[in-house]
Amino acid sequence: MKPSVKLPIENLTEEPYASILCYPHAKPLEVENRISELKKLGVSVVEFTGDGAVANVPVIGKGYVGIVVVVHVGREQLALKMRRLDGGREDFFHEAEMLQKANNVNVGPKFVAVTKNFLFSQFIDGDFLAKWLENHKDKECFRRVLCDILEQCWHLDEASLDHGELSKAPRHLLMDKTGKPFIVDFETASTQRKVANVTSVCQYLFVGNSTIPRLVWETLGEKNRDQIVNTLRNYKKERSRQNFETLLQTCL
Ligand SMILES: Nc1ncnc2c1ncn2[C@@H]1O[C@H](COP(=O)(O)OP(=O)(O)O)[C@@H](O)[C@H]1O
Ligand SMILES: [Mg+2]
Repeated sequence: MKPSVKLPIENLTEEPYASILCYPHAKPLEVENRISELKKLGVSVVEFTGDGAVANVPVIGKGYVGIVVVVHVGREQLALKMRRLDGGREDFFHEAEMLQKANNVNVGPKFVAVTKNFLFSQFIDGDFLAKWLENHKDKECFRRVLCDILEQCWHLDEASLDHGELSKAPRHLLMDKTGKPFIVDFETASTQRKVANVTSVCQYLFVGNSTIPRLVWETLGEKNRDQIVNTLRNYKKERSRQNFETLLQTCL
């Protein structure tokens, strides 16, 4: 990991930070506007830290829509998603609404605040699930975490909120330092689509060809994939608690 840099927000006018604040290219007026917007929101310091990198500067994450950094607001550390100018999104209001709906069923990092250009949420300090799974080989611990993820997806399904990016979830399942899993990025979430949270995440964790199912079965022992696919099919046909629990039992 590259060394972290803590900057008072006034210093974001300097490069390469200005162009991270207004990715991909700083425009002087936009930089000024964004800095004053952040000041109004009480942000004092931006911390460039994390496994991601933009212009050789460490960040928490870089997606297609936003760049995520840590900010200090009073004595609190928060995750700040900054809207990319080339991400094809006008604002973060839809994402904020979806995140709050997820929070209502205790899913996702806690929503804190939103503006056109910025989304503030609880900072999940930890690792991607894949990395966590590689470093934890305790069966019970593994089961608890995977069960928690599936339960969260069940609650999203129940709330008719489809995350939309859980079948290829490597960057959207995070583990905090206490071993609690978090689903992040409700940017493409919708309450209009048919929900597929449980089925998508099961595909990703247990069925697909990524490294995750391999890691899971290495620790939990090989399971019958056809049986999993069947129970998934049943759940898809009838989204009942009973079918969900059969799925839990088959997978875990
Ligand atoms: N609240 C958070 N705490 C910690 N890391 C986060 C948080 N939100 C997002 N991230 C990290 O930043 C990355 C990019 O954020 P994301 O919301 O996925 O952006 P995009 O919508 O552009 O894909 C995520 O993949 C995740 O690794
Ligand atoms: Mg993303």
